[in-house]
Amino acid sequence: MTSILILNGPNLNLLGTRQPEVYGHITLDDIETLCRSHGEALGMDVAFLQSNSEGALLEAIHSAKGAHDGIILNAGAYTHTSIALMDAISSVELPVIELHLSNVHAREEFRHVSYIARVALGVICGFGAAGYPLAMDALLGHLTRDG
Ligand code: DQA
Repeated sequence: MTSILILNGPNLNLLGTRQPEVYGHITLDDIETLCRSHGEALGMDVAFLQSNSEGALLEAIHSAKGAHDGIILNAGAYTHTSIALMDAISSVELPVIELHLSNVHAREEFRHVSYIARVALGVICGFGAAGYPLAMDALLGHLTRDG
């Protein structure tokens, strides 16, 4: 069975109350439920994690090698700053889809820069929580096509 890791970075634990005008009212628990039910429909095993710590996100990416077939990563603000996360993705050689709830390109200029995008299979942003099942479909399509 295909197994994926859905990894969420800093401040995403605050979804539901955090800047609802940008991120909506959906909570991270709601997103996890959505991903788990979509995973069941796709016949996919889903691990779902969130951390505010860059180190813990790095460890989760390292541990994904051999345990999962691919990663969906919403690295939050670390997207725009973390060469370490970029290097971790290059090191484990797993397909990674970069994900954002908001359309980062329609926001401040510093959000237009992504270290993750340089090593990602692709990027999904701007569709809110619906981006998660979209990313799961895209990752499964990639894994199925490429064997
Ligand atoms: C985000 C976009 C980032 O720029 C921001 O720092 C976040 C959330 C999103 O999902 O839209 O924390 O990754």
